[in-house]
Amino acid sequence: MLDIERIKILKHIKSPLNYTGNKFRILDQIQPYFPKKIDVMVDLFCGGATVGLNTECNKVIFIDNEPRIIWLLKYLSGCNIDKLLNELFVLIDNYGLSCSFKNGYKYYRQQILGGNPNNGLKDYNSNGFYKLRDDYNAILNKNTATANKLLYLLIVYGFNNDIRFSKDGKYNLPVGKTDLNNSNVKKLTEYIERVKNIQAEFICGDFCSQHIQQIIRKADFVYMDPPYLITDAVYNESNKWREQNEYELIRLMNFLLDNKKSFVLSNVLEKQGRRNEPLFYWTTTRKNDINIVDIDYHYRSASYNKKNRNAKEREVIICPAGVRTNDRDK
Ligand SMILES: C[S@@+](CC[C@H](N)C(=O)[O-])C[C@H]1O[C@@H](n2cnc3c(N)ncnc32)[C@H](O)[C@@H]1O
Repeated sequence: MLDIERIKILKHIKSPLNYTGNKFRILDQIQPYFPKKIDVMVDLFCGGATVGLNTECNKVIFIDNEPRIIWLLKYLSGCNIDKLLNELFVLIDNYGLSCSFKNGYKYYRQQILGGNPNNGLKDYNSNGFYKLRDDYNAILNKNTATANKLLYLLIVYGFNNDIRFSKDGKYNLPVGKTDLNNSNVKKLTEYIERVKNIQAEFICGDFCSQHIQQIIRKADFVYMDPPYLITDAVYNESNKWREQNEYELIRLMNFLLDNKKSFVLSNVLEKQGRRNEPLFYWTTTRKNDINIVDIDYHYRSASYNKKNRNAKEREVIICPAGVRTNDRDK
């Protein structure tokens, strides 16, 4: 069977975390550069876990340095969907939030008198959301079932379904327009089902730490999707990715190349006249050892952020030379 066909057997599912910059839309463009057979894969900088969840392999190790994301992914992975939904419904009721999944969107919209229709359910949920946010921020131990459920709801009811914490660790986005609807329940259900059927491990750590480097050395494939030096993302606001991080990443890629380890890196090389100079320079020094593949950036046209829609951007994946989709189909 052609490898591309094999990959397609694993139906692509969306992460319940709606992560900014997630790779759902370009899975078909990047996965043909993954090895044919993967035993242990590391989804480094995993974010919402989209890539690892949708890659066939014997085991995926999800790694991110944001503890609250790793705790939430891990917590959800161990849940029974019916029990979890019932617990979420109780919380939603307690905070007086809307639940389109149960009652439909119209039911709540018609209760918002004179409101701007473009605001969705924002006005209905505003009070409850800020109470929920205060309660979550007041919890000391964020790795508990309650804290994880509250964080999940903050993401579902929060602005643009994003995840953002202040420097002192407080979730700080305002209320959004959406609620627990069919689409969110579908993502949650599919995530729980998928993660129960794969061997998944969730690890919080910095990619430079010795512990994580050891895990990377043992894996047989590493997918890396770090924050991009020349773009801004909400998860990058309080703990910014700097040139120093980029050099550490380059060091890791040199190690992987020199040790013939299989990897794929996602990145943005150029955007609106800015260039990721450290990475760009590195690609010139190792041009014989790597393969740079341009990603069709039109997938971004569905992005929320309208100002980026026509932005000139060179998004790429980089993998060791010799890895080409053509080779894989032979
Ligand atoms: C571009 S996002 C990943 C998106 C993900 N691939 C997806 O599809 O949802 C980058 C991630 O890197 C994480 N990160 C940032 N610095 C890190 C570091 N030093 N070590 C490990 N993870 C880091 C951020 O928390 C963020 O979740």
